[in-house]
Amino acid sequence: MPDEIILFNRSWLFYPEQVDDSVPDSEFEPVTIPHTNKILPHHSFDDEEYKFISTYRKKFTLSKPLKGRKLFLDFDGAMIATTVTLNGHTFEEYKGGYTPFSFDITDCINEEGENSLVIHLDSRERKDIPPYGYVIDYMLFGGIYRDVKLRYVNPVYIKNIFVKTYDVLTDKPRVEVDVHIHNTTDIEQTLLLDSQIYPPNYSGDNPSDLVIEEITIEADSLLVHTVKLLGNKWDSDDSHLWTLENPQLFQFYATLIKDNHDVDTVLNTRFGFRTVEFRDDGFYLNGDLLHLFGLNRHQMFPYIGQAAPQRLQELDADIVKYELGCNIVRTSHYPQSTYFLDRCDEIGLLVFEEIPGWPHIGDKDWQAISIRDVKAMIERDWNHPSIIIWGVRINESFDNTEFYTETNRLAHELDPTRQTGGVRFWQHSEFLEDVYTFNDFSNSVEEPVQTPHLITEFNGHMFPTKTWDGEERYVEHAIRHAQIQSRQMGMGGVSGAIGWCAFDYNTHKEFGSGDRICYHGVMDIFRNHKWAGYFYKSQKSPDEEIVLQAATGWTMGDRSEGGNNPITVFSNCDDIEVYLGTALHGKFQPDDTNYPHLAHPPFTVPMEMMWGSAFDDLKIVGIYQGEAVAEQYFPINAHPRKLELSVAHDTISRNDNDMTWVWVKVTDEHNNIQRYANPIVSFSVDGPGELIGTNPFALIGGQAGLFIKGTGESGKVTITATAARLESASVEVWMG
Ligand code: GAL
Repeated sequence: MPDEIILFNRSWLFYPEQVDDSVPDSEFEPVTIPHTNKILPHHSFDDEEYKFISTYRKKFTLSKPLKGRKLFLDFDGAMIATTVTLNGHTFEEYKGGYTPFSFDITDCINEEGENSLVIHLDSRERKDIPPYGYVIDYMLFGGIYRDVKLRYVNPVYIKNIFVKTYDVLTDKPRVEVDVHIHNTTDIEQTLLLDSQIYPPNYSGDNPSDLVIEEITIEADSLLVHTVKLLGNKWDSDDSHLWTLENPQLFQFYATLIKDNHDVDTVLNTRFGFRTVEFRDDGFYLNGDLLHLFGLNRHQMFPYIGQAAPQRLQELDADIVKYELGCNIVRTSHYPQSTYFLDRCDEIGLLVFEEIPGWPHIGDKDWQAISIRDVKAMIERDWNHPSIIIWGVRINESFDNTEFYTETNRLAHELDPTRQTGGVRFWQHSEFLEDVYTFNDFSNSVEEPVQTPHLITEFNGHMFPTKTWDGEERYVEHAIRHAQIQSRQMGMGGVSGAIGWCAFDYNTHKEFGSGDRICYHGVMDIFRNHKWAGYFYKSQKSPDEEIVLQAATGWTMGDRSEGGNNPITVFSNCDDIEVYLGTALHGKFQPDDTNYPHLAHPPFTVPMEMMWGSAFDDLKIVGIYQGEAVAEQYFPINAHPRKLELSVAHDTISRNDNDMTWVWVKVTDEHNNIQRYANPIVSFSVDGPGELIGTNPFALIGGQAGLFIKGTGESGKVTITATAARLESASVEVWMG
């Protein structure tokens, strides 16, 4: 009988305190995982509100018989220390909120009758567990916020697989796969290992390569067996390659077969053929120099903390690649959801992944957890072609030779195919990694003193910017990102720059704007664009999407001393035409004086109009390959006229805490957002849906976001937004 993995997310009970059996189930709340221990407003709350011990319970009977197999209870992530008790047996507490953990529950499971599972989840600030110990510029929230699974395995089973690719750029790519096989029995076992590779989108029965070997494994032991598959079955062109434009994903299947030919255990994984290397002169993907251009991402969401379902995790990857035009994202500062990483594999978005931590290094026990995190991160994620580097240093910590010698040694031992980095904030810190990964807050770009060199953060706290900030600041934020990205691209020895950061995020009182938000994103916490976000987006190829966004509210008095000089336009068009009323103000080319190294420099449009001069409507037309392809129109008498509602997905699942974004904005009749309008918007729902978020919501920066989720019933859900003096809006979602 093959192995089975069963999602174990439904039918949990939750109580927001540490309680024993004396509290009856009837006092618990029924919940589904992913789960946050506290729904909060998007800002202005106290982090003490989610720092408590909670109790989860689940009663269950086994839906599949054990039949001599072993049973594991797997957690993808729970914040931050988990104690599991099953049928009265308590397992050792797992310390760590970002790495997966697992318990062998075979010996305490009741195969026939009911099982009682109790979890005490400590979501307090545990100073013995990374990243805690000192202050931290991000919130950790609480809850069993990633999937829980039941995993049936045979007494001899495949524990993990690591696919390594070789000769990738030749017409004979090779694969070597480390298959980790665990014999839990007390006798030596001989089985057949059947290893197969399937190319992308393959629908036939025959694999493109196959190896069957006899494996003998000693009693009670773990064997790492390396399977070699020849890559002579693929085309001689590059179609097998995992690239940013065409990220081909292959499948590897390993099957253990007993001599009676019963399938015993199967494990499969996706992988890609690509080479990645940081060299002294830059980063190379598949042998070609690629300048890295990206943003940092926290896995944080308003209201639900970190308990975002698969759909929202995947969407974040799509936003970073398609809305922000990045080719790399850093999972600051911890291993993020595998749904996010899977999506990065699928769409061709490179990833810098790192261990949990924020400047503080704790004592030896704390460091031991951190070293375990290196192992857990790499063993979980080594098959993701998107991941190009492991971050094995606590973000921005001071040098610690012994600790970081060990994290580097371990990373290299576990994964000889990837380089390491360690993010530091000062040049000349001890360089124990392969790549000098450096947070450059100089407001410029420092000359690299060590290579290979990658800028892992810039801007951030140097220039926090809110969606309702005045025009000078709002545009300056975007210009700083544009200038630094341009400079780094022109500087020899710099592999690229990953700005701080993609999305505004919740933080502690020691950071941010006092309302528990760091307004460092190029998008707000709801994933709505700031102008800086449009700068990133404008670097996309116009063949992919035409981008045209003028950074102006087209007013005469919002900037100091009045006027509008100059107007910055983020666009990937060849030229723009600017009209005042019906008169042509001028035709403009990209500003390669101020942004010499960008693929699509912003346009800087002189606009000498001052208060008192004739003030007329502004029209900007984007020209690409001689044709007018985009237009923006800013009337001088703009008013908030209407609400606009949109959803990120038309159809979602009615179950399993699936949810999607509902975005609202207030616009004028030309669909320009009215950033200073803050109407109170009321939302109503018709149909089997439930909103998560503040309702009514007084818009900020003219916009906001909520989530819609199902109630368990299928059907059409209509969400309507209304506000005084504004045209209302409706949008539909199907609960499938
Ligand atoms: C860095 C830190 C980030 C964030 C950023 C704000 O020093 O690594 O986590 O706090 O500053 O600019």
